[in-house]
Amino acid sequence: MLQLKGFACGYGEFTAVDNLDLTVEAGSVFALMGPNGAGKSSTIMSIAGHVQVSQGSVLFDGEDITHLPARQRVHMGIAVAPEGRRLFPDLTTVENLTIGGYSRPKEEEKGNRERVFDLFPRLAERADQFAGKMSGGEQQMLAIGRALMAKPRLLMIDEVSLGLMPKVIDMCYSALDSLRSEGITLLFVEQNTARALEVAEDVCVLESGKTVWKGSAADAKANPKLLDAFLGLAETTTDGN
Ligand SMILES: Nc1ncnc2c1ncn2[C@@H]1O[C@H](COP(=O)(O)OP(=O)(O)OP(=O)(O)O)[C@@H](O)[C@H]1O
Ligand SMILES: [Mg+2]
Repeated sequence: MLQLKGFACGYGEFTAVDNLDLTVEAGSVFALMGPNGAGKSSTIMSIAGHVQVSQGSVLFDGEDITHLPARQRVHMGIAVAPEGRRLFPDLTTVENLTIGGYSRPKEEEKGNRERVFDLFPRLAERADQFAGKMSGGEQQMLAIGRALMAKPRLLMIDEVSLGLMPKVIDMCYSALDSLRSEGITLLFVEQNTARALEVAEDVCVLESGKTVWKGSAADAKANPKLLDAFLGLAETTTDGN
């Protein structure tokens, strides 16, 4: 479904990610890992069309989208819950969701919102609350919910569990399970190695913009040395707010 070939991206003269080859199969779950500054967010934001590709190509369903504007990618079925969530703090849950669904026909909105509320009942209880007044966990659910309003076929989530309490992390991952069973392809960034390997089928580890390991989660788990290297790279961070 998604293919990056000889992909590089960055900011002006600065290259954040270099020579990345990556394939995400339709219906699969892919984890992008690595330490701070590795280029995980840059990669995701570049796939979404927000960071410039400087080399190589990005294919979606076989179509070259390397230079398509972000808006067009949303229409094609690519949505992102970005790092830091980037919600509109002075708008309510419902208003944030509405904005997430801008690419869809208006008559779909209510049904899509109900689907998000089924997935995260907590958001239904917070429907009229300002996003900026909600807990970190509720904001994360809203960020994922807002992305889902675009009815993506590829959903990318940057930092699923960072800063959240274990109970909220469980809620987010059980939502991801439901989405996967609906056939949505998932590409996510996760600093919690154990979690990532539990959920993902395929893994790519970046460090300073370079690919240091790529393979199946099963291989990663079967190779304790590799796992050690992972854990050295990415400490578990579940110190919640
Ligand atoms: N807007 C920007 N302008 C210039 N450089 C940037 C920008 N955003 C990120 N970078 C740089 O690109 C590199 C990769 O950053 P990126 O945020 O993609 O890493 P990351 O793996 O997501 O890190 P983290 O785990 O801290 O979120 C870093 O060296 C960072 O300083
Ligand atoms: Mg990041």
